[in-house]
Formats: sequence, C-alpha cells, structure tokens
Amino acid sequence: MPQTPSSNMPVLDNFWMPFTANRQFKSAPRLLAGAEGMYYTDIDGKKVMDGTAGLWCVNAGHGRKRITDAVERQLRTLDFAPTFQMGHPVAFDFAAKLGTMSPGGPSAQLDRVFFTGSGSESVDTALKIAIAYQRAIGQGTRTRIIGREKGYHGVGFGGISVGGLVNNRRVFPQIPADHMRHTLDLDRNAFSKGLPANGIELAEDLERLVQLHGAETIAAVIVEPMSGSAGVILPPKGYLERIRAISEKHGILLIFDEVITGFGRLGTPFATDYFGVVPDLVTTAKGITNGAIPMGAVFASRKVHDGLMTGPENAIELFHGYTYSGHPVASAAGIATMEIYEEEGLLTRAAGLAETWQEALHSLKGLPHVADIRNLGLVGAVELTSRDGAPGTRAYDVFVDCFRNGLLIRVTGDIIALSPPLIIEKEEIATIVSILGDALKRAA
Ligand SMILES: Cc1ncc(COP(=O)(O)O)c(C=O)c1O
Repeated sequence: MPQTPSSNMPVLDNFWMPFTANRQFKSAPRLLAGAEGMYYTDIDGKKVMDGTAGLWCVNAGHGRKRITDAVERQLRTLDFAPTFQMGHPVAFDFAAKLGTMSPGGPSAQLDRVFFTGSGSESVDTALKIAIAYQRAIGQGTRTRIIGREKGYHGVGFGGISVGGLVNNRRVFPQIPADHMRHTLDLDRNAFSKGLPANGIELAEDLERLVQLHGAETIAAVIVEPMSGSAGVILPPKGYLERIRAISEKHGILLIFDEVITGFGRLGTPFATDYFGVVPDLVTTAKGITNGAIPMGAVFASRKVHDGLMTGPENAIELFHGYTYSGHPVASAAGIATMEIYEEEGLLTRAAGLAETWQEALHSLKGLPHVADIRNLGLVGAVELTSRDGAPGTRAYDVFVDCFRNGLLIRVTGDIIALSPPLIIEKEEIATIVSILGDALKRAA
C-alpha cells in the first residue's frame, strides 16, 4: 500500500542511519515521535505497541518520570565533570549502587565497575581489561580472544573480531580471535520451550581451540549467555557450565556479554544469576539507564580488578577510558533506573510472566512459514523459512505489516525477535501475539 507523505515529515537526507537500508527507509519512512509506558506514538499520532523495548533497552517502559526528574536535576546541578584524575559523587554513587546488586550476588564479587558509553564500548573495554590483566599477572602472551559464530558484541574493532556475524566482519580488519561454533540447531531443537536439550558438546569447541592455539595465547572467551541480536540463540542445557569449567582449567577469563540479558530480561537481575554460572567480567549497557541516556558498564571481579591495582601508586593502572565514562547525567539516570527496578520488582518480574509468554508465542506454531519458535524469560523469536533467492524479505514484510497494525517487532534476516518492556501485562502479551499471528497469516 503506498504511503501518503505525512505533513510532520522532517528532512530525511542528512541523517545517515545506522544498521538501516537508508534508501529503502527514506522512500517509506517509519518515524516515532513520542512514547509512554508500553506504547510509542508515530508522527501521525498512531499508537504502536513496543514489542522490543526499543532496542532491548527500555526495560521499565517509556517516559518514566523519575528518570526524567533525575536527569533534569542533574543537568541543573552538574552537567559534566571529568573522571580522568578527577571525580564527582554521582558516578561513585552509581557504581556503589551497582556494586550492591552486581551479577551473581555478593559471593561472585563482580562488584568493580568500569563505566562506558554503550554496549560496544563495554565489550572493547572488557577485552582490553582481560588482556591487560593477563599481562599484569605475568601471562603477557595471552592476547587472543575466543568468541563464537553468530555472536554479536557491538561494532568496535574488538567487538566485530570476537563477534560472528559475517556482514559485520567481512569489510573490516580484526584483532586476533577465533570462534567456537554457534548453538543454533533447528534439526534437533526446533520448537524447544526454554533451553534446548541438545548441544552441550558444542562447549568442547573451547577445548579444541585451546589445543589448536595453546592456552598460553588465549586471554579470554566471550559469549552472550543468550544471544539476542543474531536472532535469539539459546545455550543448550549445561553448555555455559561447561564453558566455565574449561576456561577455568586453562586460565582463560570468561566474559559474559549481558548487554541484552542484564537488568531483568530473563527474570533474574542478570543471566549470570539465571544460569548460576559466574564469569570474570560482565558487560552491560541498554537497560542500565532504561535506554534514556547512553551508558554502559563493565562489572569486573575483584580478582581481575585487584590484579591490575599494582605498581607505583602514582601510575595509571589501565590506560583506557572515555570522556563520558561515569557521565553525571547518565549516572543520575542510572540511579533512578535502579530505584525503579527495585521498587517495582522489575528485575525478577519476567519470571512470573515467562510461562504465559512461552505459551502465547508457541501458539503461533503451525502458521505459514514458521520454522521455529524460541523463548526464554521475556525474550522470544519466531524463525521463518526464507523465500527462494530473497532471504530476509519475508520477515521484513511481517515487520512492516505489524508496524502498520500497531506493533513494533525486530527482524534479523528471517528471524522475528520480541523483547517487550518488563512492565508488560498478560493482555498485552495476547495483543502482541494476535497482531503478529495475523501478519504471519498474511505473509506470502
Ligand atoms: C550482546 C550485545 N553486545 C553489545 C551490543 C552493542 O551495544 P551498543 O549498540 O550499545 O554499542 C549489543 C547491542 O545490541 C548486544 O546485543
């Protein structure tokens, strides 16, 4: 259906849009102008339910007054202050707050916090901390990082090197890395509810890569406990435990990239808690400020942190940081966000909805072209078979159809991903599934 141009349409030429088919988008744009709770409003005033928490980040729903007030107050008090050889209380307060609610609880001791401006920066920070730590403890030959096929770790040079998505990698040079196989296995695991039963043996890839490269060359292994951006790929039962055991055996640090799973997505505060597997570093961003102000954080274990707190006291221990590390306004937004999460129980709320979510999503089984349905916590994916010679077009059509009918979903190739704000109610889950189901029935 051709769209009539809206009178509210801005000039579109100058903004070079990220991860977007710019020419296609600008010929038929979709613009959001407002948001409240579970809903966006587009530039023509139409309500669109947010089935993706923005980009997996607006966990407490949109337009939270407490965050707005905190940001406004902070801007009026201290708009910016450096954190290089200087400090300001808000960043320390936020780090201390995060320290009390760090992944794995107090016994995991993952309570040293390095602030960044995004998920990509958190990943590159964690990789650099891992390499620097190994050197500091006399393991300077350990510079290689192991990632995984289909992994997504943002778009920095470190992140694309350990990531495993070919389109993000093929054009750019990379740092030394190697990759385990991914764990997506439709033949054995299609339509699993929750964690798939098959595939624990894929963790032995880490052992294989150790035998190939030598443990003394490997600094760290990084995985998303649950991969989101590649289309919701779940770890088989027992897989992460095995990765932890192998990495520990060989002195390899384990990094969990929790940019998506952090802050309640799986029904526990972090995936670290969900799986009961404790890594050495945890990367976060997105939900850390409810998406309102760009920010990220790396949680480091005391072992890693303290390992770098050596040498003369007047020496900078880690030559790394960003102008906006611990930005006062982002920190204020983060504190307000954590208060909301705690007061409303949002970091565990998904656990109570997971069953309803699972059954609702799996009710789509049997609709045309549906090849798999995956779910965990408040994450879901519907994988479609691709059209011959035109991969990705079927899911894209479903995406456009859903948007027209008032639902924002996300597509990667022919996989539809869902990750609504954690404030969602059961009736809204039904609405998501109903709009998506109708779009799937219409998709040729
Ligand atoms: C697991 C993971 N790591 C890193 C990133 C990169 O985050 P950002 O886009 O904030 O740089 C993402 C973004 O989706 C992600 O899902």
